Amino acid sequence: MKLLVTGGAGFIGSNFILYWFQKHPEDQIVNLDKLTYAGNLENLSSIKDNPKYSFAHGDICDPALVDKAMKDVDTVVHFAADSHVDRSILDPDPFIKTNIEGTYILLKAALKNKVKKFHHVSTDEVFGSLSLDSKDKFNEKTPYDPRSPYSASKASSDHLVRAFHETYELPITISNCSNNFGPYQFPEKLIPLAITNLMEGKKVPIYGDGLYIRDWLYVEDHCEAINLVLQKGKNGETYLVGGLTQDIPNIDIVKKILQVMGHDESSTEQVKDRPGHDRRYSIDWSKIKNELGWEPKHSFDQALKETVDWYKTNKNWWKHVKSGEYREYYKKQYDNA
Ligand code: NAD
Ligand code: DAU
Repeated sequence: MKLLVTGGAGFIGSNFILYWFQKHPEDQIVNLDKLTYAGNLENLSSIKDNPKYSFAHGDICDPALVDKAMKDVDTVVHFAADSHVDRSILDPDPFIKTNIEGTYILLKAALKNKVKKFHHVSTDEVFGSLSLDSKDKFNEKTPYDPRSPYSASKASSDHLVRAFHETYELPITISNCSNNFGPYQFPEKLIPLAITNLMEGKKVPIYGDGLYIRDWLYVEDHCEAINLVLQKGKNGETYLVGGLTQDIPNIDIVKKILQVMGHDESSTEQVKDRPGHDRRYSIDWSKIKNELGWEPKHSFDQALKETVDWYKTNKNWWKHVKSGEYREYYKKQYDNA
């Protein structure tokens, strides 16, 4: 089988490619990535000489290039996106372009080239915000209510993907997952930012009251879920994918990181809140469990320890990405906080 993976040099995409070659060494993968600030080919250095792997440097918004990359492809796994909420607040433009227009260009090329499966990787953020007082969870029937430029762009892309299925019978599946963490995550996101800041002797910034809740999913569990959706998922269906955490607020996530790394709360600082900050996310993943037999395997605490170890042993990786453009972003985001 030949797969086209978009955004394969990013956090989840690179974990997915490494995972896929372990499980399906006979398959061929083309990785189409623009190498934005978040794309890093070092993540894939272990497979760069694998004859089954090839890298196509380019933009999913370039129709000619996308059409070429789609030739003889059986399955598309679409990760490429601008993915960070805070950056979408500072400047929504690339989010609208890549996440909406880029997805549309991929869909058209997939249709033209008669791909057998188009899997779209999306987010639980399309459903908006749950209240702190409720026990509600997002499920596949929850109405869309995106509240940031990022989540609105992902919601639009989900609608386009479904429309191509309903209208043109493109064989699609969608997964909406919760907050991933693990190796190779760009240190602008909470967990790697906290770990690397502590290693640099800096404080961990906590937005607002720190009582925001995310549903934390280890990236390897997510890769396994996509694997199952590709093998057994039904065309036109959506599957929600979440982790094993039960309503842990950000402040407690940070306390766990402080404890694993031998720091105390003096290493945190409260900073200005994110505008429109979604209060709580929680995922009901019973559909993918009941229909495809998937459930998360990694306990949060164990996977967090492994993630901290990974950042400790891969200092060069994150020191490299925390230079240049990252410094400018950090200044803009946190200096007025
Ligand atoms: P990431 O920001 O780490 O990586 C994104 C990758 O896409 C990078 O390699 C980047 O170079 C590439 N890219 C960006 N614009 C491109 C373009 N125009 N053309 C080609 N490549 C482009 O993102 P991630 O955290 O790995 O997320 C991957 C996908 O999963 C995204 O679609 C995101 O919305 C979704 N998602 C992420 C999470 C999470 O917690 N990280 C949770 C839910 C859903
Ligand atoms: O829910 C899935 C989403 O998870 C994905 O769709 C996004 O691509 C991914 O970036 C992530 O979005 P979040 O905004 O939830 O992730 P982030 O790591 O930026 O923030 C997690 C929580 O931590 C959120 O409540 C904001 C808070 N936070 C974040 C940062 C970076 C802080 O308190 N301090 C920080 O410095």
